[in-house]
Amino acid sequence: MFGSPGNQQRSTHMTSVATKTSHVFHSWSAQEHVDPLHAVAGSGASFQDDKGQEYLDFAAQLVNLNLGHQHPRLIKAIKTQAETLTTIQPAFANDARSELARLIAEAAPPALNHVFFTNGGADANEHAVRMARLHTGRRKIMSMYRSYHGATATAISLTGDPRRWPNEPSDSSVVHFFGPYTYRSAFWASCEKEECERALAHLEAQIVLEGAATIAAIIIETVVGTNGILVPPAGYLPGVRALCDKYGIVYIADEVMAGFGRTGTMFAVENFGVEPDLITFAKGVNSGYVPLGGVIISDAIVATFADTVYPGGLTYSGHPLACAVGVETFAVFEDEDILARTQYLGREIVGPFLEKLAREVELVGEVRGLGLFWAIELVKDRTTREPLVPFNPSSEENAPMLRIGAALKAAGLWPMIQQNRIHIAPPLIISETELVRGLEIIRQVLKAQ
Ligand SMILES: Cc1ncc(COP(=O)(O)O)c(C=O)c1O
Repeated sequence: MFGSPGNQQRSTHMTSVATKTSHVFHSWSAQEHVDPLHAVAGSGASFQDDKGQEYLDFAAQLVNLNLGHQHPRLIKAIKTQAETLTTIQPAFANDARSELARLIAEAAPPALNHVFFTNGGADANEHAVRMARLHTGRRKIMSMYRSYHGATATAISLTGDPRRWPNEPSDSSVVHFFGPYTYRSAFWASCEKEECERALAHLEAQIVLEGAATIAAIIIETVVGTNGILVPPAGYLPGVRALCDKYGIVYIADEVMAGFGRTGTMFAVENFGVEPDLITFAKGVNSGYVPLGGVIISDAIVATFADTVYPGGLTYSGHPLACAVGVETFAVFEDEDILARTQYLGREIVGPFLEKLAREVELVGEVRGLGLFWAIELVKDRTTREPLVPFNPSSEENAPMLRIGAALKAAGLWPMIQQNRIHIAPPLIISETELVRGLEIIRQVLKAQ
């Protein structure tokens, strides 16, 4: 036996101290420097800590909680499924799994009709890459700088931000390219149209120089999430689709963060009129109540595995509890008109509020977004656009953003802060009053800097 009797006794009780620190090894952290907030309850767009402080959740946790905390219908779906069949391995047919796959296929673009379920977003991208490689017989994958695709071996290699650096070397067959980002153009572009044309010309040149016949797939977050809520110019994704068709490359849309209503459409690609070959999803599919992700697969790629074994699987692929919440998510989207309200709140409330904020507050360099997915980019100087903190800041350099984050929390708003930006991604069920209250907190805090 390990541990003293005292330890054994403690392990059977959830004491507040034990849940806060003790034996949990924390993600993305130096273990001696973590001081996690102890969350004890949540409801709708808010959650509470153990000191009774309530936070308006402007990050929807990690942009997964699209239907908010403790949605009664999602909880009921878990209970009902748990009482019926809590788990069953993936080789069996199961009602919740089949029904969710059907609903997803129906919502996805017309030629994407099958779903491979995973446990989350990173493994969805791992499998999408594996499918693309086996389908094309090629190895190389192209992905963007300023992207995040997950923390498993290939997914972190695809990632185009500092989270990749300490994980190198891993999958050596990944090449990064610059996507469109008009505010900080890599192409000296002065407008969206120019940025679009030049980003596509850069991508094509890179495809040719890398050897088009070596490239299995291009993976792109439809709207770049943690790296800046970068909404692509209108023609960019159709241009990528055309390049993929021209060179026989699989187009993978990573919609782990942007999918399931975040941008006001079920899949973000609908905003841009493109049909990828593979779409990866997770997070909003069931608000993360039970871990779930997956790959939606085109008929052409499914055909590759008609007589050839697909060499991949997961013990919990299509877990019934997770899928039951996914099925109920579709019903709630319909009954609560989630897509229409997300579009309305983005277009009529967040957009105009942030535009006004940008005129009022010198610190704001740019605001941008779609649906309930926005960024406020903070700068030292509006003319030079020098970011308020440098790229990948040290903790000393990051002091201004840490100060802003602390002030937002003290005012009861739980923010998502990335580099020199405040991201706005609340649950899609947030009320208009709560949304305006949260935006007002941001305005007050920024004005006070
Ligand atoms: C665009 C994108 N892809 C993939 C992932 C990885 O998902 P997970 O953390 O479920 O592995 C994330 C997570 O934030 C993401 O934002």
